[in-house]
Parts: sequence; structure tokens; C-alpha cells
Amino acid sequence: MTKHHVLVTGGAGFIGSHTCKELRANGFVPIAYDNLTTGHRDAVMWGPLVEGDVLEQERLERVVKQYRPVAVIHFAACAYVEESMRNPGKYYRNNVAGTLSLVEACARSGIRRIIFSSSCAIYGIPAQIPVSEECETNPLSPYGRSKLMSEQIIRDFAEVHDLAYLLLRYFNACGADPDGQLCERHEPETHLIPRALMAAAGTIKRLSIFGNDYPTPDGTCIRDYIHVTDLARAHTRALTYLLDGGESSEFNLGTGKGHSVMQIVEAIERVTGRAVPLDFKPGRPGDPPALLADASQARSCLGFEPVCSDLETIISTAASAHGWKASRKHVERGAYA
Ligand code: UFG
Repeated sequence: MTKHHVLVTGGAGFIGSHTCKELRANGFVPIAYDNLTTGHRDAVMWGPLVEGDVLEQERLERVVKQYRPVAVIHFAACAYVEESMRNPGKYYRNNVAGTLSLVEACARSGIRRIIFSSSCAIYGIPAQIPVSEECETNPLSPYGRSKLMSEQIIRDFAEVHDLAYLLLRYFNACGADPDGQLCERHEPETHLIPRALMAAAGTIKRLSIFGNDYPTPDGTCIRDYIHVTDLARAHTRALTYLLDGGESSEFNLGTGKGHSVMQIVEAIERVTGRAVPLDFKPGRPGDPPALLADASQARSCLGFEPVCSDLETIISTAASAHGWKASRKHVERGAYA
């Protein structure tokens, strides 16, 4: 049987590379299309790497001609909320113009399915928790707005071209490949779990806790952490759904369970057996006190259930990627649902 090719923009990045691995395990051949500004060449192991930028339409069209992919999964984007506040142009160019360039290339070259990497950042501070797909969108940063605008571009193209889409809104992506082949390597690293592991290892002096006077049980922010391998699994489900003729839609990808910043720190201390030195700083502007997904649509339409997003697996896989020999102590305690 001929294997289906899938074009994966940003296939050398964190979620993109984990998705390529999962696609290959499910019989697809991922074509990683990446400009390698933040992606890693050595993370591309399950299909060819094409070096290119999503703004380069001719190159994109050549790749489509060569491989005839059945779909595109679009990860390539800049993803720092704080940087987007300082440099909005970078986000509108790479994320919004990048998506426009890609969907134009898809329309011209006959790609009929797109899966888009969106974000819970489009909701801003949600009016209700858990957040369903119907909640009002009110992004608080150029990053969040760039994702919302990209969603709209895809919907508008779908109206006039024969394009089916799924817009996948991730909550907090974390963890690392349980086989140890891939990990999270952001430069600079700003995310909570890798930074807390760096503080435990002594690579950075201490972890700053951004805000401890939020209206939450321990005063620190609550987030819905979903393991990157679960996100990758959701993408292969999404692809199969579209190939089977499923309707275009948008789905939250989260677990529906929340953990506070302090619960994450405590779990990391248990897994590594080391203290995480802390200091306390004011909350970051625009950080919602709590974000939890209502993930029921992904469950009912895609049959998607997270299987490795318990805190123990998230932290032990991330810790292994950081060189820790993680203990298998049970760390899943006191999740906020
Ligand atoms: N945090 C700290 N100290 C740190 C880093 C983070 O206290 O050094 C806190 C944050 O304030 C937040 C939580 O830990 O409450 C998680 O922060 P991350 O930076 O790991 O993740 P965010 O929730 O800010 O960001 C994630 C995605 C973004 C997305 C955003 C939507 O990484 O792409 O959710 O809110 F836009």
C-alpha cells in the first residue's frame, strides 16, 4: 500500500517533531518543512526535511508537487507571548502572513485538508471555566491575536476553496517523548516545567514564581498541562478524521484538570529529589488566574483521550530529557478539576 505523505510545517519544532514520530507510527510519511530558526535538524527522524519558510510560496508549491501530501499540519509559528508584546510585527508576519501564504499555496496546489496549531491564548481571561470552544475569544497579546486571525483566514479560505480544516487549540504543551528521542528545546526557555527543572539542577539560580496572589487555592496560576505525546496523538486522530470526511471544526486539546504553579514545583521536587529554589515576582501582564479546557468535543468527535498527561508522566519524561534519572513516585496529587 502506498503510504500517505503529510506536509508538516514546523516539523522540526517541539510539538511538530513529536507529531512526525506519531504520524510515522501510524503509517504516514511526514515531510517536515521548517526554516530551522527555532526547530532542530536532529529532531527530524521520521521522513524528509525540507528547509524552507512558510512565506516562500514557490518552495511550498514545489514540495507539494513533489510529494502530493494528503494534508498539511501547520505548526510553524513564533510562540512567545511576551516577545509578541515587544515585537508584534514579527508575530503578524510569521504567524498571520505565514498562514495566509500557506493556505494560498494549498488552494493553488490542491491540498484539501489543513490541521492548524491554535492556542488557548485566543480566549484571553475566559468568562467561564472550563473553557469550551464556544467561549468568547478575547486574546490579550499579539501572539494570541495572530492565532485567532490565522483561524479566521483558514475558515474564509475554506468557504471558497474545497478545504476541510481542524483548528486545534492547545492548552499547556509539556513533557517529552517517553522513548527519549525528542524533548523540549526552546531558546530562550521560558516555560514553567523546564525552568523549574533547570532550577532544581542548578543550571539557573532559582525559579521565579510569577504571582502568588491570584484568586486560586494557593494563590498561584492554574493551568491545564497536556503531554506533547498526547497532543501528537490528537493530530493523527484529527488527520484520520479529515481523511474519513469529518466536518471542519475547532477543538480544545487539554485534560480538563488543572495544576497550580506550586503543585508543579512540589511535583518536580518529589520526582527529582531536589529542592527548587524560588523567588516571588509579580504576575505577568495578561496571565489568566486559571485556564482549564472543556475537552469534551475532541473526546466525542475524535475519540481523543489523553493517556500520558498525568503529572507523574509529564514530569518524569521532561526530567529524563533534562538528564534526570526520574523516580517513579506517584506525583499526581490534588489536581484541580
Ligand atoms: N510561570 C512561572 N515562572 C516561570 C514560568 C512560568 O511562575 O518561570 C507560570 C506562569 O505565570 C503561568 C504558568 O507558570 O502561570 C505556566 O507558564 P508557561 O510560560 O509555562 O505557559 P503559559 O501558560 O504562559 O503559556 C502557554 C503556552 C503559550 C500560550 C499560553 C496561553 O506556552 O503558547 O499558554 O495562555 F499562549
